[in-house]
Amino acid sequence: MYRQPPARPGTNLTFSASLQTQQKVYIETYGCQMNVADSEVVTSILDRESFVSTSDPSEADLILINTCAIRENAEIRVRGRLAELATHKKHRPGILIGVIGCMAERLKEQLLEEEKMVDLVVGPDAYRDLPTLVRSASSGIKGVQVLLSREETYADIAPVRINTNGVSAFVSIMRGCNNMCAYCIVPYTRGGERSRNPESILREVRELLDQGFREVTLLGQNVDSYHWKSGPGQSIGFASLIEQVALVSPQLRVRYSTSHPKDMSDEVLHVMAAYPNICRSIHLPAQSGSSRILDLMKRGYTREWYMGRIEAIRNIVPECSISTDLIAGFCTETDEDHQHTLSLMQEARFDFAFMFKYSERPGTLAARKYPDDVPDQIKARRLQEIIDLQNQISANCKQADIGKVFEVLAEGPSRKSEAYLSGRTSQNKVVVFPAEDYQKGDYVSVLIHSATSATLIGEAVKTH
Ligand code: SAH
Ligand code: SF4
Ligand code: F3S
Repeated sequence: MYRQPPARPGTNLTFSASLQTQQKVYIETYGCQMNVADSEVVTSILDRESFVSTSDPSEADLILINTCAIRENAEIRVRGRLAELATHKKHRPGILIGVIGCMAERLKEQLLEEEKMVDLVVGPDAYRDLPTLVRSASSGIKGVQVLLSREETYADIAPVRINTNGVSAFVSIMRGCNNMCAYCIVPYTRGGERSRNPESILREVRELLDQGFREVTLLGQNVDSYHWKSGPGQSIGFASLIEQVALVSPQLRVRYSTSHPKDMSDEVLHVMAAYPNICRSIHLPAQSGSSRILDLMKRGYTREWYMGRIEAIRNIVPECSISTDLIAGFCTETDEDHQHTLSLMQEARFDFAFMFKYSERPGTLAARKYPDDVPDQIKARRLQEIIDLQNQISANCKQADIGKVFEVLAEGPSRKSEAYLSGRTSQNKVVVFPAEDYQKGDYVSVLIHSATSATLIGEAVKTH
């Protein structure tokens, strides 16, 4: 799932090695879960070069910022943060600042020209070159490496888990995207789609289980098109992959993100229904409720098709929660199109939604071919209507959970009090409950007695 809540800044990397004194790297991550997973790969690559991680930029020799380019705002935020981080360079001129990730890929050399404090710019498929680029930058040669690859999946690199709760982890199963939705920069920043060898995925999952992790989220921009040629005339698709991951252990929860409505198959839904440890939660971005806009967006489905997929989920995995992404004010969107989005929301009754104003991205089909003609004020008004409606629907969904018992995987103390644990249901809803003798990593049956806007509140019930 593309997760807008940005990864917590300040990851813990530590360099050590071939260098005489141990060097420290600080990495800050923006954007989606793929970026969080990539920062763990980067940490691993630098770890091999004996860099140790630090959560404090003021003691770092190397500061990396893993960036997102999905909307203009995401980039503005990164530039602001770069200016702040540059103050460290004023105090300690020897340190290096690197921009990695999607904004690095989009802007390339331009970033070095515009942001004078930056020493290296490295795109998502070039992280293996980081050690070389860091070495050159230390000797004063700034570097840009943004080649995209048709093969790179970092399959052999064991990610170093940073900022981890020790319970849930991301596992990247594919990279890139072949879809070319008209508004989207991702295919340009992450290149074409490629799937990762299932053996390396299963190995990573087993290792996580051995280390005490209890939940994995399989990541890809469009997991339904996962495809691995396993032999002549034989291939493994997503349904088969997720089944193999579910079979690793009934004690391990399996999530995945993101599904694409045009590709989401009943086969995957039947596998979900057969394995209780595959979480009852699907992220199925709709983007719009208007078939005319969906066509312009090149999403490959109509509103009716989308609703058909929702119906299939409700029939095959009845207790499943459904979340979505919605864009307000795409090119040529009329009030009528917008009303179709609101009515789709009413019909689908999403448990949760990520909602955005359309932001034109240079180089995309929409930027080249369509006018960005919905005035900002109207985009903002439509977005607000979408948010208000979703808040009502989410509140109703939460009210409907009161009185039910859910199996909650405890992730750690709640933010407000050590006396409470926080965890999530299979449906991906956050639950807070009195800790009693339970520990993080435990599965606890919790009876829900109330709800706030973001959280269900309950207490453990004995189930035997
Ligand atoms: N691969 C996933 C999502 C990737 S991007 C998918 O296809 O669903 C995450 C979300 O950002 C998208 O679902 C979309 O809602 C939003 N998004 C992408 N480009 C955007 C743009 N130019 N303006 C506004 N929102 C955008
Ligand atoms: Fe972007 Fe579409 Fe690919 Fe998702 S499926 S990453 S929205 S191009
Ligand atoms: Fe993710 Fe942002 Fe890149 S959403 S794929 S980090 S553009």
